[in-house]
Amino acid sequence: MAETKANPVTVKTDTAEVTVHPFGAHVTSWKVDGEEIMFVSSLAKYDGSRPIRGGVPICFPQFGPGPIKQHGFARRSYWNFVKSEVSEDGKVGTIQFSLSPTEYTLEMWNHKFELLYTVIIQGAQIQIDLVVKNTEESAWSFTGCLHTYFGVEDITKTQILGLKGTTYLDSLKDRAECTEENEGVTFNQNVDRIYRKIDWPVSFNNGKKNVKLTTNVADCVVWNPWSEKAQAMGDFEDSEYLKMVCVEPAQAIDPIEVASGAEYTFTHTISVE
Ligand code: BG6
Repeated sequence: MAETKANPVTVKTDTAEVTVHPFGAHVTSWKVDGEEIMFVSSLAKYDGSRPIRGGVPICFPQFGPGPIKQHGFARRSYWNFVKSEVSEDGKVGTIQFSLSPTEYTLEMWNHKFELLYTVIIQGAQIQIDLVVKNTEESAWSFTGCLHTYFGVEDITKTQILGLKGTTYLDSLKDRAECTEENEGVTFNQNVDRIYRKIDWPVSFNNGKKNVKLTTNVADCVVWNPWSEKAQAMGDFEDSEYLKMVCVEPAQAIDPIEVASGAEYTFTHTISVE
């Protein structure tokens, strides 16, 4: 039986450690050889009053703005703790949380579902699986995103690789369709783009290490708020935009339909070299 656990859960392996907060089943830290890979704002709130600013917010059942609250309810709900364990040889660490409908989710999105979220660390790799099960009598569909905030040494020197030649929707221009001409996506202003139907992996250097992302979903959102938006966010320090980038595996545009009784697994793997 799943039990509710109000405190963050941490597992440590021989090389890494990961922490998942029950509010949002939110990965708030992933350290490899003692070095933090994620970014979390120093002004992030952990009291359930708003989604945690940083780490890996789970956006479900809607990516971005739309009929329900921005990025959906998953990152705004307390999840149920299922288990945390480390293998006997100390090499593999697992944390699992689940979410089923509550008054809050049903009010926002009147559908029955079961979400099972599993975070596995092994060596310098983290694998995140979000299993989305439809427990309703008829099919429904969702969009979503594993909205990953990474720490970087210097955003002005950061380049996101693997997107050249792909089409993106520019969220700062009413989602106007553009083509990425550059080898690497660079940052010297607010960037908010949905790269569509890309060929994963996508990678970047965080100033110390190469970080590589793979997933089974179609899109990759790239976001940095830059200075003006940073100042407008109540849970983000004015200068923190210099130290972070969001590279987000997403099913942002084409919804995934899940038949009655069926399930879909959204997988996101990050490795550091
Ligand atoms: C990104 C969106 O995924 O999330 C941005 O592309 C948005 O448009 C950002 O600003 C942060 O969203 P929120 O709701 O956490 O402030």
